Amino acid sequence: MNQSYIALHTSFQIGHVDPRILGGFLEHLGRAVYDGIYNPGSAHAGEDGFRTDVMEALGRLQMTGMRYPGGNFVSGYHWLDGVGPRDQRPTVCDLAWQSIEPNRVGTDEFIALCRTMGWIPMLTVNLGTGTPEEARNWVEYCNARVGTKYADLRANNGNVQPYDVPLWFLGNEMDGPWQLGHVPADQYAIRAQQAAKMMKDTDDSIELVACGSCNVDLPTYLEWDRQVLEYIGDYADYISLHRYVGNEQGDTPDFLAVTHAIDRQIEEVDAVCRYVQSKTRSKKRAYLCFDEWNVWYRARTRDDLDGKGQFAPPLLEEVYNLEDALVVAGFLNSFIRHADVLKIANLAQIVNVIAPLMTRGDDLLVQSIFYPFEMYSRRRAGVSLRPVVQGPSFESRANGLAQLIDASAILNQSQLNVFLTNRSPDEPAIVQISVEDCPIVSLDSAELVTGPDAQAANSFEHPDVIRSQPFTEVKISQGKATVELPPLSIAAMTFALG
Ligand code: AHR
Repeated sequence: MNQSYIALHTSFQIGHVDPRILGGFLEHLGRAVYDGIYNPGSAHAGEDGFRTDVMEALGRLQMTGMRYPGGNFVSGYHWLDGVGPRDQRPTVCDLAWQSIEPNRVGTDEFIALCRTMGWIPMLTVNLGTGTPEEARNWVEYCNARVGTKYADLRANNGNVQPYDVPLWFLGNEMDGPWQLGHVPADQYAIRAQQAAKMMKDTDDSIELVACGSCNVDLPTYLEWDRQVLEYIGDYADYISLHRYVGNEQGDTPDFLAVTHAIDRQIEEVDAVCRYVQSKTRSKKRAYLCFDEWNVWYRARTRDDLDGKGQFAPPLLEEVYNLEDALVVAGFLNSFIRHADVLKIANLAQIVNVIAPLMTRGDDLLVQSIFYPFEMYSRRRAGVSLRPVVQGPSFESRANGLAQLIDASAILNQSQLNVFLTNRSPDEPAIVQISVEDCPIVSLDSAELVTGPDAQAANSFEHPDVIRSQPFTEVKISQGKATVELPPLSIAAMTFALG
């Protein structure tokens, strides 16, 4: 049996955990919008056409914000196509996913959905085929009081009150050669700066996210971020990061050690932000926005990416297993451990497309990755504490030396939330948790996710193979907690401190 020790101290604080790190992402892609969350023909459809079963399940995740409408889709999207009477909206060709887009869901429907779900709306403007002025007009449509052209258009569409969208993304993955309108960093920076100025001139309360490097393997990685940040200057409140990981080699220990690579990516991009701030002698620091992250590697064949001219074709329909759930927990641990610099993160995506939820007709399946997100989201309030972990480690193939136990912790006044994963494929782990300056007095709640093996997954036929369950293997004695984690497991625990 492995034995590890986690030492915490209430003064060793990393930073306030921004609740926006538990956000989601909804793109017009495959069956995400149409069929996934919006389907007037479903037995579960509410009056507005949104699926109540999907919304109820998403409600359990308590996502804070929702990024919309893309993704690659947005680089060919013209927001005016998606407002006004539905029967007058054009059906267009979406080049990014080679699909048919009927614009039945657009800005007004998305905002209404956000209001119902309690999500902060986060909109991405089209800086691929769109213009800075089109982006600025969208800000007026959403955020201005009536009295000018686009605000009046919103009112004519039935919404007099401004939507007050607080966060806007300056395009999507503009460093990627696959992106519609992709340009080199210096040209993107000019476009983004022009859009940013006009958008902030329209509403100076908004915050902006500049496109950072979307892939650590691109040759422009980090250099892109430097050029963009230096040119855009203080208009960039945040720089974006994207990361999709996978177990392409069938090497579970290495896959589970990928948290190291995520830590490194965050620290490298933050280093660029610090460098640019120093070089430009700015008082303002750009923070990090991890606006796309997940496991995604199976549903990535040519067929998975090409809608072949269809409406709502099944694209990127990844089936998730237990090891994927551990990696999702690893992403969240990394985000919490970097709470001082990482302020926003959006799980890509929410339904059908690389998602915790899948629909089949009127049925709904909860996938393995749903559970860690739910367990962390419930316990997100507070300040991140620096965990010192001592215990056995293993050498992974591509991600270096990794400890068997991956951990993060959040202090919320007299409550302590501890998140642990046991990466051992075959051995349980005993973990002793101590807070050096404060006794742990009792356990308020604890949940565990585990399963028969790393590849075990839920299916419509067997929906409960992987799910969270109450975690009982927790003992408290002499102010310390001792837990016994099964192999390949995730635990989330809330303790009361004395
Ligand atoms: O989330 C799926 C796609 O992945 C997004 O459209 C794009 O931004 C990324 O490459």
